[in-house]
Amino acid sequence: MNYDHSFHAGSFTDVFKHITLMCLIQKLQLKEKGFGYLDTHSAYPYYQLQAKSEADTGIRKLWQAKNLSPTLRQYLNLIDAFNEKLNAKRVYYPGSAAFAWLMRRSQDSLILNDIEDEPYQALKAFFKKDSSVHCHHQDAYQLMKALLPLKERRGLVLIDPAFEVINEFDLLTRSIESALQRWPQGVYAIWYPIKHKHAVERFLTMIEKKTQLPVINFKCCPWPDDVNMRLSGSGMLIINPPWQIEQVLNPAILEIERVLREA
Ligand SMILES: C[S@@+](CC[C@H](N)C(=O)[O-])C[C@H]1O[C@@H](n2cnc3c(N)ncnc32)[C@H](O)[C@@H]1O
Repeated sequence: MNYDHSFHAGSFTDVFKHITLMCLIQKLQLKEKGFGYLDTHSAYPYYQLQAKSEADTGIRKLWQAKNLSPTLRQYLNLIDAFNEKLNAKRVYYPGSAAFAWLMRRSQDSLILNDIEDEPYQALKAFFKKDSSVHCHHQDAYQLMKALLPLKERRGLVLIDPAFEVINEFDLLTRSIESALQRWPQGVYAIWYPIKHKHAVERFLTMIEKKTQLPVINFKCCPWPDDVNMRLSGSGMLIINPPWQIEQVLNPAILEIERVLREA
């Protein structure tokens, strides 16, 4: 297992995933009380965008677009703010951990994790001065067992596996079932690729069977199924979605799809 996210940084799936993450955090921050954020598969804190990469059909399309909605502009502003911290302009693309870190308030806390040594060391080094960030180096599903419920009682768990093992959907289903038994109040956001439709449908049906909690499945599919790309789309399953999140996310997803399809 040696997943390197750098070629995929800023891809269309990252755009969808990180806008969803931003909207979830904005909703949680409507309350003054702090919340915990657990990023089970953080990867690196950020990536230097390569000259030719999946960013060409993702973030670079948004950078060219005009008249974007406030939601998409807020997302681009976060990326600009991150680059400013590194004295750069549109050179770096933040990972999920850095998006959450950019948005955190003093009352919020972040737990980041990656099983691989390099991304873990990079996370630890980048966030070392921030005492509200805790980095772990473990199997995501073991860590969820150990840490849930989060001590803040309110919180978001982002589960974003690399899908490099063939039974990832089964691992996810088992681990979500056990997490919900321990922490039914948590908000869970689970990213998945739309590649093998049968496996996706089986996963969604299993989750629906295993919980009575509210669930919304968001999908972003800018390309036709037979497109000559790694993926035609991806999804984010949200358990215990914050109130009215769909009113923000549904139009944002339509906009992402439209902008990404533009030549
Ligand atoms: C898709 S990347 C995560 C990207 C990141 N969440 C983002 O949005 O920027 C998946 C990461 O999961 C890590 N990983 C793979 N298997 C894991 C496991 N069992 N537990 C924890 N991390 C794992 C990989 O090393 C990789 O860095």
